[in-house]
Amino acid sequence: MKPLAIAAAVLVLLLAIYCKLDPFNLSPIADYPHFQTFKVNMPPWSQIPKPRDAHNLLRNSRIKFSDQVQGPESLAFDPLGRGPYTGVADGRVVVWYGHSWSDFAYSSPNRSEICGWKPSTASYWESEHVCGRPLGLRFDSRSGELYIADAYFGLMKVGPEGGLATTLATEAEGVKFKFTNDLDVDDDETVYFTDRSSIHERRNFVLLMYSAVANGRVLRYDPKTKQTNVLM
Ligand SMILES: *[C@@H]1O[C@H](CO)[C@@H](O)[C@H](O)[C@H]1NC(C)=O
Repeated sequence: MKPLAIAAAVLVLLLAIYCKLDPFNLSPIADYPHFQTFKVNMPPWSQIPKPRDAHNLLRNSRIKFSDQVQGPESLAFDPLGRGPYTGVADGRVVVWYGHSWSDFAYSSPNRSEICGWKPSTASYWESEHVCGRPLGLRFDSRSGELYIADAYFGLMKVGPEGGLATTLATEAEGVKFKFTNDLDVDDDETVYFTDRSSIHERRNFVLLMYSAVANGRVLRYDPKTKQTNVLM
């Protein structure tokens, strides 16, 4: 073997040992000693959905409200057709009344300065668990109440006048939600919602993707009995 090849092989070996030992705790999983990975069996290509936008219609869309709302996730319109309402990175639900954005609701009672404006959506991760992160939004068309799936505070609800939302569910069958994500309200007022993980919080979504652990759940909340069951 040429000396150069030997040197390269030694370098690769040293790099592998360095990555395995991570002596300076620089790895993204350094703070998670119990981090585990799971194998994902991909479906065959024939089962992967094809693009639906054959004529590229999305290219005709325009970006609205850039620099006005940070990290909007879900969009909802109230029973009077007003909106959109959306949840933003600092934990507020804001509403567009046609000329400007107004505050509508909060999922966390803590609106201290740590929840104030920050330059990028990623800079909110550090305080999301204090300030809230409303992701899924849907109105109950009869009562005008807004259901909120907050990534940290679980399933919540706020009246048509907005303000501080009340918590409806934070766990199901003894397992706490870690990453409540989206929801829908059925005609019979049953709420269907999802919890993406019972291990990793939203701000650790990278770990959630790397580990591929399949413990996300689809849940049902019955407003009459106030019970939550796991559907799958
Ligand atoms: C809000 O959260 C911060 C950080 O956890 C804490 O220092 C502060 O006391 C809280 N404020 C209120 C009003 O609860």
